[in-house]
Amino acid sequence: MKKSPSYDTQALRDFAEVLQGRRTISLFLQTPVPRALVKDAIETATWAPNHHVTEPWNFYLLGKKSIDSCLSLVRDIVTEKKDAKTGEFKAKSWSEKPGWLVVTCRRSDDPIRQQEDYAACSAATQNILLYLWKAGVGSKWTTGDITRDARFFDILGISADEEFVVGLIWYGYPKLTPTQSRRPLDGVLDELP
Ligand SMILES: Cc1cc2nc3c(=O)[nH]c(=O)nc-3n(C[C@H](O)[C@H](O)[C@H](O)COP(=O)(O)O)c2cc1C
Repeated sequence: MKKSPSYDTQALRDFAEVLQGRRTISLFLQTPVPRALVKDAIETATWAPNHHVTEPWNFYLLGKKSIDSCLSLVRDIVTEKKDAKTGEFKAKSWSEKPGWLVVTCRRSDDPIRQQEDYAACSAATQNILLYLWKAGVGSKWTTGDITRDARFFDILGISADEEFVVGLIWYGYPKLTPTQSRRPLDGVLDELP
């Protein structure tokens, strides 16, 4: 009988299942997610690697008032860009996102530092998504017109000169979990001599 390698443990398989099984969720149940869970996710996520330990991230957990402001803003942005009917449709669909979290990255004048800080913030963001997923909570990392709009920064009460948005994260218990695929290992890995 073939002996399993020592690293082939149930704990590692369970961990891999979380990494592979997490999916971007678009449709959520309206069951509220405990705020304490999201705070635990954020606190844990900040153990992400960050070069020179710059800790370049900030997190903004939105409440009803700020979410309502975002819904008005997306309605306005889409109405300006397309038309009022599409704006209304978008605001209605976004009103069904139960939880709203924004991750930002501190701006740096040094382009290398900026790139590395963004990498660190991305790692922290993924940590949040995975922590939530393990707790049964799905999420969608989004970026778009709204996350670059000056009015969005006003809602958050932050300055676009000091930080930029890494992602608007919607979270909630999944209504539907889609499937996904990835290129196989031999399509992405080159093993060098
Ligand atoms: C920086 C970033 C921005 C993203 N923005 C969006 C977005 O605006 N809309 C969206 O539907 N998904 C967005 N996604 C999620 C990707 O579409 C998603 O990860 C991809 O389709 C793979 O699906 P999976 O996460 O289930 O593996 C974003 C992901 C990243 C990393």
